[in-house]
Amino acid sequence: MKTSTPVRFLGIGALAMALLTQPAMAKTKRAPRAAPGWSLVIHGGAGTMSRDKMTPEREAEYRAALAAALEAGSKVLREGGSSLDAVTAAVRVMEDDPHFNAGRGAVFTWEGRNELDAAIMDGRTRAAGSVAGVTHTKNPVLLARAVMERSAHVMLAGAGAEEFGRQQGIEQVDPAWFATPERQRQLEELKANQKLSWFDVDRKFGTVGAVARDKAGHLAAATSTGGITGKRWGRIGDAPVIGAGTYADDRACAVSATGAGEYFIRAGVAHEICARLRFRGESGQAAADKVIAEVGKLGGDGGVIVLTPRGEGVFSFNTSGMYRARANSRGVSEVAIFKDDAAKRK
Ligand code: GLY
Repeated sequence: MKTSTPVRFLGIGALAMALLTQPAMAKTKRAPRAAPGWSLVIHGGAGTMSRDKMTPEREAEYRAALAAALEAGSKVLREGGSSLDAVTAAVRVMEDDPHFNAGRGAVFTWEGRNELDAAIMDGRTRAAGSVAGVTHTKNPVLLARAVMERSAHVMLAGAGAEEFGRQQGIEQVDPAWFATPERQRQLEELKANQKLSWFDVDRKFGTVGAVARDKAGHLAAATSTGGITGKRWGRIGDAPVIGAGTYADDRACAVSATGAGEYFIRAGVAHEICARLRFRGESGQAAADKVIAEVGKLGGDGGVIVLTPRGEGVFSFNTSGMYRARANSRGVSEVAIFKDDAAKRK
């Protein structure tokens, strides 16, 4: 014991010397860093989609709509913008496009209204914002972002959320802006035949979402939806529930989900996928496939998009199709719809 103290001090001294000389050594030995890359994955909903039931014109419309959203987000990332701005831009384009069940073109509630949910999350800080049941906000993703950036809260709902949006200068519209004849028809079909479920009248979920990695390596996720046709009683799905339909964590991944929200909430899908990456070291694809299989076992249908910190962008779904697209700084630019679609080039 008596001799151990000087020895320990000698050891600490040597260690200190080694640490002091480390930066100079590291400087000369460090390999050149790889060029920082960006990556973006988007979805416009999963569901029953078959080639024989979709006309070539309709398919072309969806492919163009997905390509427009992909380009809106890619432009932000290409020009050095943040992953948060990229997911906001991509989701906003899909909210304005009546092909998707979000913003304009959202499904109807039982009472014939459009009640919108959205969420956004910053993987750098795990700051998050979400809104549920809004009826006048043109772009719910912008309101979710305002909740994240300009309030002390994570989730606001209904009239209170919109009062906050008005105070923040977020654009409001007449509710008629969201309504389309096709969504009206789906509600009428559901009401005329109550043996049908909300899924029967649409056959797809149509929620929209985006996950991005910017050149600085930060992740973000955003999701927006009108929910499910004929929803009642203030029903809220998974999209605005942080950890269920939306999650981003730079240490793990970014996730946006689409599907039967109740099952995605019960399985905590988005957080569960990130936890598998973080604690089990699974790949994005393996984690997404396992959690979607869990959702299936519970009885739920749908899918997810996942992006890892290394820029691995993947899709996983247990339906026959999912409107989806991805792009990255290595030149990938793909749009796909059907399960057997070999992610065709645009
Ligand atoms: N996944 C959207 C919803 O269930 O509302």
